[in-house]
Formats: sequence, C-alpha cells, structure tokens
Amino acid sequence: MSTDIYGIHDWGDGLLRILENGHIGLCHPERPEAEPTDLLSLVQNLSQRGIATPVLIRVTDFLKRRIEEINLSFADAISEMDYKGRYQGVFPVKVNQQAEVIERIADYGHPYNFGFEVGSKAELLIALSLNLPAEAAIICNGIKDSEFLNLAASSLKLGFNIFIVLESPRELELVLDVVKNTDVRPQLGVRIKLTNTVSGNWSESSGDRSTFGLTIAQIMDVIETLRAEGYLDCLCLQHSHLGSQVPNIIEIRKSVQEACQFFAELRREGVPLRYLDLGGGLGIDYTGEKTASANSINYTLREYCLNIIETVKDMMDANEVEHPVIITESGRACVAQSSLLIFNVLEATHFDSEIEVVAQDDDHPYLLKMLEIQTYLTRERVQECWNDLKYYRDEIRALFRRNQVSLAVTARSERAYLYLIMKIKQVLRDPEAMTEDMKQALVQVADIYHCNFSLFQSLPDVWAIDQIHPLAPLQRLHEPPQRVAILSDITCDSDGKIDKFVLGDGVSDTLPVHDLKADEDYFLGVFFIGAYQETLGDLHNLFGDTNVVTIGLDDAGGFEILKEQDGDTIYEVLSYVEYEPKRLLSSFKAIVETAVKKGKVSPADRRQMIKAYTDSLNGYTYFEHSDH
Ligand SMILES: Cc1ncc(COP(=O)(O)O)c(C=O)c1O
Repeated sequence: MSTDIYGIHDWGDGLLRILENGHIGLCHPERPEAEPTDLLSLVQNLSQRGIATPVLIRVTDFLKRRIEEINLSFADAISEMDYKGRYQGVFPVKVNQQAEVIERIADYGHPYNFGFEVGSKAELLIALSLNLPAEAAIICNGIKDSEFLNLAASSLKLGFNIFIVLESPRELELVLDVVKNTDVRPQLGVRIKLTNTVSGNWSESSGDRSTFGLTIAQIMDVIETLRAEGYLDCLCLQHSHLGSQVPNIIEIRKSVQEACQFFAELRREGVPLRYLDLGGGLGIDYTGEKTASANSINYTLREYCLNIIETVKDMMDANEVEHPVIITESGRACVAQSSLLIFNVLEATHFDSEIEVVAQDDDHPYLLKMLEIQTYLTRERVQECWNDLKYYRDEIRALFRRNQVSLAVTARSERAYLYLIMKIKQVLRDPEAMTEDMKQALVQVADIYHCNFSLFQSLPDVWAIDQIHPLAPLQRLHEPPQRVAILSDITCDSDGKIDKFVLGDGVSDTLPVHDLKADEDYFLGVFFIGAYQETLGDLHNLFGDTNVVTIGLDDAGGFEILKEQDGDTIYEVLSYVEYEPKRLLSSFKAIVETAVKKGKVSPADRRQMIKAYTDSLNGYTYFEHSDH
C-alpha cells in the first residue's frame, strides 16, 4: 500500500479516505462506521447516466455537518464558559448564492435559528423568500439604496428579524428618510472599522484602509444624529468584519477584543447595543498543515468558538456590560468542504522521452559530451548532470542560430536532451537526490496534463489570488505515481493552469500523477471548492457552468442523487454574450447553401454540416469525451 502522498488524511478532515482499492472514498460525517462511497464509481455511474465530467458534486451530508458543528461548537463554548448571552449565526449569501445550497442551509440551520447576511437587493429577496424561524437574523450589509432600505424596514412588520447595518455616513441620511416615511422602528446596526489588521489573502478587509465601515469619529456623529432624531433606541447591533480565511487565532482574538471595547464604549454612550456581529474570518485548513499561512489555519473550530466566547465574556465583564448575542457570518467555513469538482485528463505533454539516442562517430562533439553524461549520472552528481545537460543543449541551440549546425543535428540534440531528462527524473525518484535546486529544475521539465475544465469558470480564486485547493486523483492511489505534472485547463489562456499542489509533505509546484492509460479515463478531484468559486466564475472562452449534482451518502457505500442541473449549453452561453443562436444558425445555413450552389459541398455534406452545427449549439461547452 503506498503512503498518502497527497496528504488526504491531513486535509480530508475525516470526510475523505483512501479505500482498499486505491480510490478516494467519501465518508459519512455522522456515521464514521458506514461504508464510504467510492468517488470513482460515483463519477462513472454519473457518466453512465449521461452526467459527464467536468462535474461539480455537492455533498449535502458535508454541508449539514458543518452547519451543525458551527452551531454546536458555539453552544458548547457558551456552556463551558458560562456565557450569559446566546450565539446566532448567519450565512453570507455571497459566498454561495446557488438556490440549492441556500435552501439547504436554511433547512439545516432551522433548529439553530441560523439566518443570512445579505449584501444586495437581490440577496435580500432570496433571504425574504426563505421560511426562516422568527428569531433567525437577516443582516443587511453593503451599499443600500432607498428601495433596499424600504423593503428591509417594512419586512420587520412581516416578522423578520432584520437588521439594517449602516456602512457609511451617507447611508444614515437615507435610512432616516426612509424610516420617517413609515411607521416602523427599524433595527439598526453600525459597522465599525477595526484598527487591528489580520494576515492572509484578505488582510485589506481589516484596518484603517478597509473600504467599509465607520471610523471612530464618524460613529460619534451617527450617534449624535440618531439621538437628535429620536432613533438612538433603534441602534442595537454592532458589526465588524476581520476578513476571510484568517490564518491566525491570535489575530482573531485581538480583533474581537477591539470590537468588544467599541461595544462597551458605545454602551457607555447610551447606545442600547444587544447584538455583537463579528463578521466572517473562520478559515478552512486547505493544506492540512495546521499553520498560520494563507491556505491553512492554526486553530480548530472548537478553539475559534472558545476564544471568541471567552474574549467577549472577559471584555464585557471587565466593562460591566451584559453579555450580548454573538453573531458570526461564517460562509466559507459552512460551505467550502461540501463541493468538489471532478474532471478528466484529456492528454499529456511530456518533456522527456524513453527513446534512446545512441552516440555515433560523426555526432557533434557537444552532442557526444551530452550523451556521456549517462556515464556519471548518480544520485550524488545529479545536479552536475542537469547543469551539463542544459549547457550542451543550449550551446547547440546557439550554434544553430548562428547557422553553424544543421536542423538535423539540432533535432538529434533535442532528442538526446529529452532522453537524458528521463534518466535524470529516474534518479530523482530517490528522495535523497531531491535537493531544493533539483525541485526547481524538475518544475521546468514536469509534464503538462491537459484537463477538461476551465479554471476561470470553476476555480477563479486559484487564478486570482493563488488560492490552493487540495487536489488528488480519484484512483490508483496504491500505485506509486510515475510522473510529475502541472495541470492546464482547456481555455486557450496560459494562465489557465494549476501549479501549486498540496502534498503530504507540504505545498509543491508539481503534482505526482500516474501514466495515462489508453483505455481508462484518469480523473482528478479538486476538493473544498464550495465557497466563492461558483459565484465568481466567468465565461472565459465561453466555457459555461459545469454539470452539477447534489448527492446524499448512504450507509452502504452508495449515494442518492437529490438534484441534478445540466451545465450550460453552447446555445445558452452564446445568449449570455448577446448572440441570438437561431440567427447564427440561419447565417451558417446560408453560407453552406451558397457553397452547395457553387458545387463546393454536396447536399448530403450540407445536411451533415448543419447537423454538426446544431448538435454543437445544443451540446456541453466542455470537451465531450467518449466513454471507455
Ligand atoms: C461582511 C462580510 N461578512 C462575511 C463574509 C464571509 O467571510 P468568510 O469568508 O470568512 O466566510 C464576508 C466576506 O468577505 C464579508 O464581507
């Protein structure tokens, strides 16, 4: 049995496991004793039903577990610390707005009065359509116009526990205008700008330069205006947001401490605050490293909850303020783990070759020296061999540019180079030979595995902010991978690649992969992509939404398809970018008809060509591969 080179045990968080047959298994989070669901069989099964890769799989059991864990961990911390207030979480709709996900969150969160954070009118309309418990909070953040404010204020009358958070001084005037025209006493919140900054990819959401929130001076002005207008009693919530994926628990503690001090001071100013909303920040350990680095976290969920409850309790007690209701807006932590993307590898480009080049008497001296490298290629001298190989290859290339060697000689040198790279890679399989320099060198000669997905549609944060998602083959996990690769998508953009991977021994620039077999699809899974990725994806090269299936796991290693959504057809994506597919078809028909008239194609060809065009219009935007 090979070791867990992809580190699945470290980052899998008990949700994924390597099965005896070398496939990845999805484990039932509530019933660890249940037989895991074989992910490869699941994908093959979907494909037999016509649901092809790339496919996004949402595992409802994983989502349910997270919603429960977050709520129960806060409940435990509250009872452990004897905290007198309660916890009420909300899910920020922007993190995953898909109806299927939102409706399930509302459902799983129902017993815990779990609510929603909305940042736009559209998101507010979603929240107002859900059958939420009366206590569940709806937090209205973001820039709001009077329509947004009107709807939010009047929803209070319908029994929604809705809060309007003032994000900027300008908004106060607008809010007052709106509420003065109604008979509603709104529940207002104020977003404060914490001075404390956090590290990680989203550090700019915190500190003085953060875009949203009121400065200390502005908050005092807001209080005075509300007092003067007779609305100070409506200001019951304080909001702050530290950023997303905060890697370090100490930073969370410090920010919570600062938020609490604001809270206590505002209470002293006579503001009847009751709710302390601490925003997002709870991270996911994407790399399994358990460190305070951008794609990892140095704390557990339990620790996060305990630290928040303890800090708020201590701060409130010290300030003699009664314990507030604590709200958090953890979106990533709720949904990230519940979605995975599966795609197939289409082909590989190798930067080495098995084809031996044998020295000939009339070979160029540099080529002969290159071939001689084999005689001293050992673990100890591998770096020297690599340097020599590059030197001789480059010298021959230089001679070619100066017209001093022929194309045929250069081609022989290039072949020899590829053959010797293969020999060097063999030596580098020995971990002892792998120095840092050789790791770098290996990246330059790694294979490129061309994969059936669009990075821009399915994994935009990998492109935009170097987010790392764990990734592993679904199969052959007991077979040592023979090759190393980087992955390229099917957009024709050189940025459409993945070149950072989580492995058992840390983050690597290459991914160990297995040789492709002619008669077997090789599937890769990208895990923990439920947060932000679906929402931020775009139509680069007109690759549209992938197929999506929502599944439930059963105890016997099976699964049930709970919902299936076809990915975009080419017809649909063309419509999104203002084409009228029917007109495109008519134009194409006219072009083909002209060709028939000129005798360039036969009437039977015409039928074939129009069928191909129509089939493409109605087909998947991704590579439609044949089943093996
Ligand atoms: C106001 C607000 N709340 C909550 C979140 C979600 O945070 P997280 O990514 O930690 O779930 C965000 C995201 O940036 C946000 O801006």
